[in-house]
Amino acid sequence: MRQDKKLVIGLFGFGVVGEGIYEVLKKTPSLQAAVKKICIRDGSKHRNAPAALFTTDAGDILNDPAINVVVELISDAEAAYAIVCRALQSRKAVVSANKKMIAEHLQELLRLQAAHGVPLLYEAAVCGSIPVLRNLEEYYDNDLLDGFCGIVNGSTNFILSRMYEDRMDYRSALLQAQSLGFAEADPRLDVEGIDAVNKLAIVLLHGYGIIAPPEHLLHIGISRLHAADAALAAEKGQQVKLTAQARKLSGGAVAAFVLPQFVGSDSQLFQVRNEYNGVVLQTAFADKQFLYGKGAGRFPTASAVLSDLSALRYDYRYEYRKLHGSEGNVLTQDFYLRVYVSFEWDSAVDRTDFEWVEAFHCQGDRQYLIGVIHFERLLQSRWLHRKEVSLVVCPDGFVEDVAARKLRRRSLELAGSPYVDRVGVAIDGYVVEEEP
Ligand code: HSE
Repeated sequence: MRQDKKLVIGLFGFGVVGEGIYEVLKKTPSLQAAVKKICIRDGSKHRNAPAALFTTDAGDILNDPAINVVVELISDAEAAYAIVCRALQSRKAVVSANKKMIAEHLQELLRLQAAHGVPLLYEAAVCGSIPVLRNLEEYYDNDLLDGFCGIVNGSTNFILSRMYEDRMDYRSALLQAQSLGFAEADPRLDVEGIDAVNKLAIVLLHGYGIIAPPEHLLHIGISRLHAADAALAAEKGQQVKLTAQARKLSGGAVAAFVLPQFVGSDSQLFQVRNEYNGVVLQTAFADKQFLYGKGAGRFPTASAVLSDLSALRYDYRYEYRKLHGSEGNVLTQDFYLRVYVSFEWDSAVDRTDFEWVEAFHCQGDRQYLIGVIHFERLLQSRWLHRKEVSLVVCPDGFVEDVAARKLRRRSLELAGSPYVDRVGVAIDGYVVEEEP
């Protein structure tokens, strides 16, 4: 698309973000982009735009040769996929914010872009207004990205903020997130960590060149968090946040998951409140970098759609350099995590699943332990998905020197001092106690 060419837009969806981009485009005439048609499902609703713009027939957009850009902003992921496929096949550029649709169909969407020579841009799909994907594509277009740790779901962060700052109950906080337009049409996608894992799958492609179906990535949301977990965090000056993480391990393979995590005040994520998102990038030479901004809501999300539209004017497209480059990153489940697990009765969590247990507490009817566990063992454990079990990753969750520590422990035991590394050592602010 040339600089002087006008963007003639067919918009699918006129919900929170759809109406947002319509408003934003009216305020940015310099973009030379005009909405020609808006396709909606329910033609009987009142809309804040001229009636002549609306249609319920997708063909009015997809078969119109004058429309050169399709902006897809509907919540039904399968319907969105059908629209995006037809648009790309019709050689129309596409901008979408539908992370579920994109994450579930990465391979085919890559193929369609290549086959038809048209771009699909989706900056709004990950962290709303924060330019995460463009940064991963352009700035980190090398193999220097060691880690990605982010709060990528605004609704859950909003709910956690309201619950722990205002003592609001979970249900009211969720209702508020819905009424403010942050939550998905099906809010289970937010609170079960599915939205976050969809975003993580997209990050894995742009950050590491890995195509991973989201259902293959471990994701646990916030619905099983217990008040005792937050109370413990507060006692330690920490907070519980839902984080999406990808980490290049010392062996070169990549670990990835979405899990609640204790975050201390020394982390930039500690200050990320409400619907804001934040991403800490760990790079080989620059050390840490932090991206921050609104991750949900009408205008923040519309601003990322606007940025994609603007990029189309200079023919921008994702190069997927990491995927096509020589790096050949692979996902691994062969790593260790330090986790906190809380549960209701002693037998609920099998301690033998852990390499070692660093702390164990029993308070009222709630117990918790902190221990180091192999990720594969965690996935296979019979307790991980029990509804009364809550798991939170410790602040410095990755433990890379397990073999050396086990060897040290063994030699200490042989030397007759079996408890040296279990008693009185502070790990991440938790006092390690001798096992009972
Ligand atoms: N439901 C999503 C969130 C919307 O809360 O982050 C933005 O992707």
